[in-house]
Amino acid sequence: MAQPEDIGAETVKELAPERSVSPISNIVIIIAMQTEAIPLINRFKLSEDTDQSLFPKGVPWVRYHGTYKDLHINLIWPGKDLALGVDSVGTVSASLITYASIQALKPDLIINAGTAGGFRAKGACVGDIYLASDVAFHDRRIPIPVFDTYGIGARRTCFTPNLIKELNLKVGKLSTGDSLDMTPQDEAAILANDATVKDMEGAAIAYVADLFSIPAIFVKAVTDIIDGEKPTAEEFIQNLVAVTEALDQAVTQVIDFISAKCLSHL
Ligand code: ADE
Repeated sequence: MAQPEDIGAETVKELAPERSVSPISNIVIIIAMQTEAIPLINRFKLSEDTDQSLFPKGVPWVRYHGTYKDLHINLIWPGKDLALGVDSVGTVSASLITYASIQALKPDLIINAGTAGGFRAKGACVGDIYLASDVAFHDRRIPIPVFDTYGIGARRTCFTPNLIKELNLKVGKLSTGDSLDMTPQDEAAILANDATVKDMEGAAIAYVADLFSIPAIFVKAVTDIIDGEKPTAEEFIQNLVAVTEALDQAVTQVIDFISAKCLSHL
């Protein structure tokens, strides 16, 4: 595991080969919604952090932590919006907690777990669990050469062929934007991203993880069918609790698989 003094942007890349051959020991799980987080907090018997110094004073971010098998698990939830009291979903909070978690906890691996919309045309059904092979943004349109590619921010995720095979997970591309609904422009960008699933955090977390060369994987459970008949918000709310149970099971299987393995064996 990286030591606190090693985490500067210049040195972290040098650590990558060493990281890939020693067993993973320190995991950060990033989850945007409390409903998605609670089953995992209970399953892994995680306790809420009492160390007030981990994150800056006044932010709503919450860390739950504990030991499971040989792994130190940190689950980070961005908390409730201080003014409105709803979960702090979306790319801004996701980026901030990913950055702060990397700085404070120096994880070997980041797991972003959450719900997503799925495209029926790409084979997605409600309750399916996807591991994202790639991530990109669909609402950062900058029609100027090179800025356009920067805005899309496409990147591959950590390569985990053994995990995919062992757990029999579906694999697809993930497209991220800050809206639950989808404008025609978003739709065109999502199609151009070749995405099967759509969320509100993944590509932002991948961007920050990449800055520090921390490997990241994305486990997404489908709550709603974007190209189906039902209104997205209605279908999402209707399926949230049931699909969260499937997400909990999948993340547990992922954690069990990761235990005692090094990155190169995932
Ligand atoms: N999370 C669950 N469903 C979603 C959708 N349709 N779009 C973005 N994020 C989601």
